[in-house]
Amino acid sequence: MKVVPYKDSNKSKKAQVSEMFDGISKEYDRMNRLITFGVDLKWRKRLINAVLALKPQRILDVATGTGDLAIALAQQSDAQVTGLDLSSGMLNVGKNKVKHHGLQDRVDMVLGDSESLPFETNDFDAVTVAFGVRNFESLSKGIQEIHRVLKPGGTLAVLETSKPTNPIFKFGYWLHTGILMPLISKVLASDPKAYTYLVDSASSFPYNQAFTSILLEAGFSKASFHKQTLGAACIYYAQK
Ligand SMILES: C[S@@+](CC[C@H](N)C(=O)[O-])C[C@H]1O[C@@H](n2cnc3c(N)ncnc32)[C@H](O)[C@@H]1O
Repeated sequence: MKVVPYKDSNKSKKAQVSEMFDGISKEYDRMNRLITFGVDLKWRKRLINAVLALKPQRILDVATGTGDLAIALAQQSDAQVTGLDLSSGMLNVGKNKVKHHGLQDRVDMVLGDSESLPFETNDFDAVTVAFGVRNFESLSKGIQEIHRVLKPGGTLAVLETSKPTNPIFKFGYWLHTGILMPLISKVLASDPKAYTYLVDSASSFPYNQAFTSILLEAGFSKASFHKQTLGAACIYYAQK
């Protein structure tokens, strides 16, 4: 069964996801830090360092949202970065941040769909996606499109939520996602359903080896996964 933000709506998952992120775009950065207790910054830093070590000249950040990854990638290298997202609300917040950092000539923010990317085949040296893939309506289409726009030899780096397998860490994960997150979102968020969706979509998304297999099925020749913070998140690397 498809996990969607608004179970009573008959709109497509894509339309619901875009509407939901438009609605929470102004609070997204603040809520993100709160929900992960800021640990996401460490995960992002790892992914950025690994990608920039490959010295890419053209980077695409898919599901860029408010642009944190795209901005950091541009700040820490001389690469040309394109951020793409489905939600104009998230992109607008991102565009303001790009302007604030004076990066307009290095970071392009584009409205678009990961499942039909508006770019040439073999266009980018690296593609990044942070907390985006589990929102795709068709995961396989999205991954295949990313594979298409990567140059041969190019790298895809994905940061996504995962689930711990150790029973003790599993309990901590349940405490965080089942008790703490709903409580934080009920008190502080404008749309608590959005945060229920984020938890539900995280708990049903393929992770570790299962997601690595999906990357290989989409045509990547090599794929690996690297657990973060006791398995709460995972970073995947795949090569075209
Ligand atoms: C949880 S946010 C992550 C944003 C950002 N990457 C970050 O790390 O904070 C997920 C983003 O995925 C975007 N998204 C979902 N489905 C998409 C699709 N098919 N194509 C492009 N963006 C999509 C949403 O609009 C949203 O901005």
